[in-house]
Order: sequence, then C-alpha cells, then structure tokens
Amino acid sequence: MIDIKKECRICHSSELTQFHSFGEMPIVNAYLKKQDLEKPEYKYPLAVGFCRDCKMVQLMIMPPYDTYIIPDENGKTHYSYVSSTSQRMVQHFNELAKEVERRFLDNSSKVVDIGGNDGILLKTYKKRENVLNIEPSDNVADVARASGIESVSDFFSEGLARRLVKEKGKFKVIHTNNVFLNIANMDDFLKGINHMLEDKGVFISEDPYLLDILSNKAYDQIYEAHGCFFSISSLSRLFEKHNMEIFDAEHQWVHGGSMRIYVSKKGRYDITGRPLGYLEREKERGIESLESFLDFSNDIRENRGEMRGLLKGLKMAGKRLVGYGAAAKGVMVQNYCKIGPDILDYISDSTPEKQGMFTPGMHIPIVHPDIFHEDKEVDYAVLFPWNHAREIIEKERDFFKRGGKFIVHLPHPRILELED
Ligand code: TYD
Repeated sequence: MIDIKKECRICHSSELTQFHSFGEMPIVNAYLKKQDLEKPEYKYPLAVGFCRDCKMVQLMIMPPYDTYIIPDENGKTHYSYVSSTSQRMVQHFNELAKEVERRFLDNSSKVVDIGGNDGILLKTYKKRENVLNIEPSDNVADVARASGIESVSDFFSEGLARRLVKEKGKFKVIHTNNVFLNIANMDDFLKGINHMLEDKGVFISEDPYLLDILSNKAYDQIYEAHGCFFSISSLSRLFEKHNMEIFDAEHQWVHGGSMRIYVSKKGRYDITGRPLGYLEREKERGIESLESFLDFSNDIRENRGEMRGLLKGLKMAGKRLVGYGAAAKGVMVQNYCKIGPDILDYISDSTPEKQGMFTPGMHIPIVHPDIFHEDKEVDYAVLFPWNHAREIIEKERDFFKRGGKFIVHLPHPRILELED
C-alpha cells in the first residue's frame, strides 16, 4: 500500500514513494540489560521507499545516530557491533588490503577507513603508521587503538575532512565498509571525500547490494543503520553530481551480497567493463521501476507468514527452539515476525558485549555459545546471520550429528539439511 510521500534524501525531489512499511521497530543494535527490560524502548516507524527520479531505494525516516550510538555512564559512546567476530570477514578484509596495496599504494600513501570499527581492515595494512581510523564509537575505536591504529572518535563530515587535511595532508585511499549506506547527508559526506582525496585518490566503498537484497528477499537488511540500498545505477547518478565516477566495481559475498565500488574524481582512471556489466544486469532486473519493489513488498509479507507458520508448528509439536547469532538482521526478523522468548528459549552469540543482554523489542536472552553447546535438548536453532551460514554449519557439525537442525528464513523459511 502506497501511503506517504516525502522528499528524497539524495536528490531532494518529491518523487519518493513508500513501498513497504514494517510498523514500529526498535533500534536493532540497542541490546538491553535485564534491569532495563521494563523501561520503554525507543521505537520508530520503519518504512522503505523508492525515488522515481534518482532511483535510490531508501528509508522513509532515518532515526538520528544518537538513538543507537549511545554514551555510557562515563560519557564514552558505545556501539554493540564488533567487526572481527567472523574469521571469513577477517580474511575478506585481508584480501582487500592486499589488492589496494598492489593497485594503488606506494610507500608513503595514506589510507583512511571511515567507520573502521575495531580496525578489522586497517590492521591488515603493512604500513600501520600510514593508516587512520575515523570511528565515532569509543568502545570499538579503543579496540583499534589497542592494535596500534590511530583512531579519531568522530562522525565524518566535510568539516572534519577539512580539519584532517590541514593536519595530515590528502589521502590516497578512503575506505568505507557498510557505512556509506547509512549517511544521512550524502552531499556533505561526498564533499568531504572529494576534499580529502589526492588528485588520483580512490574512494572504495562496500555496501549490501540492492540486486542481492531483491534476489535473496533479504528484507532483514532494512533497518535504521541502513539508510539507502544501492545499485550501480543510483550510485552513478549520485557521484555524477559530485564530479566523480565509478571506474571499477566488484561483487562480494559479504553481508549476503555486497558491491565494492572504486570511485575517483572524473577522468583520472580508465573505466573497466565491470560497472557497465552490472548496470545491464540491473536494467534486466527492472531495478529502476517501482513495480519490482511492490513485488518485493509482497515477498516480505509472504515470508513473514511462512516463518511464523514454521516456528509455531514446530513449537506446537513440542520441539525446543533457540536462536543462533544475535545479528542485527535477526532483530529485524524477530520484531517483524513477532518471534519472542515464547518461541526461542535463547540466542547463542560469540560477541562478549551481547552475552547476558536481551534482544531489542522481543527481549530474548543472549547467551554464550558454551550454553548452546552443552544444551543437548535443542531440536532446532534459527540461524539468523544466514550470511555466515557456511562458516557456522561447518563449526557446528556436532549439533547436526546429534540430530539438531538449523532453520534459515531466507529466501524462504526452511529447515536446513546437512548437504545444504
Ligand atoms: P553479522 O553477520 O555481522 O550481521 P549483522 O550486521 O546483521 O549484525 O552478525 C553476526 C552475529 O552473529 C554477530 O553477533 C556474531 C554472531 N556470530 C556467532 O555467534 N557465531 C559465529 O560463528 C558467527 C560467524 C557469528
């Protein structure tokens, strides 16, 4: 149902059309302590729309950053997402740094990672003295500092870029990973990037890719920290406005399918054939038409019905169910499908910051993986971070061996067999 029209955050046209509403949602990374369970939680209307002018898919409303990057009792900002929990992600960033060193860097080139979290990418660069992390959350920036990575605890903006350039000069490479999609003021951000880059500098950004979201029916990627859902087509228009261009692009497996783009000031690099190839695929998939997103909205509703049916059926048959991985996407699924502690006894998660906490909205307790491993009564574990399914299934062979089964919710809710 199309019901509200607002201004597009990217091109400011009034052609932004809502295509799906999820209702009131909590902040997905705002895990709760036991003593806070009775207090009211911040909730906002989560809905997603499509701009018929610049073709950007985007949240209708973006909750302000201070609703999820929160100061603790000592005034230090805190974010519950720590990047280095997956070995495959560590390896992914290792390979990225090697590629960038080979293609773009010399001995003195400087590299910055905006939203570099615990330093997962920067610590794989050979020359640590030439790298800089810009990370607004103190708790994760401190982890990066402990690995010897200089970190500025701030949000990136044109103003910050100007200050840093005065202090340190221009940078050859600027990275963002899963950050660019969450920028509320893209014009200010890109002015900052443009200013901070050397003449032949390269902005390398990796974000969940709209085509994958559509083919995986991955509605669980839609939450407050993902303000936009990019295609090469919508991004090309955005960079054009800033006199920049995508000269290379490469699809990545991370986060259930992401696109890495290489962007420079116009005319500095030969444009490879890859961006054009992706553009053609996007056109074939109808990524510039509202109808594709209305179909997606139907898929989302269907998925919710199937997921609830599957879990409730198992519960009624007397089975014991838990969750595996307290991923942000899982919080989306739990709240949208109304999966609470009446269905899942707990969620096992390897992140120390999350253990002992409760999930936003549905209040499912999060426990250390040891509890899951010692618990031989579990029949089914809902594997929320489906993007890590291979790594998790490999690690949890004993669970399968003793008759346990995993459930995934995408693209359709189903019980996984070992050979999957
Ligand atoms: P992640 O894939 O980063 O997704 P999101 O962006 O949706 O949060 O989340 C993975 C979560 O799953 C994270 O909390 C860590 C947890 N996890 C485990 O508990 N065990 C594992 O083996 C892996 C790979 C992740």
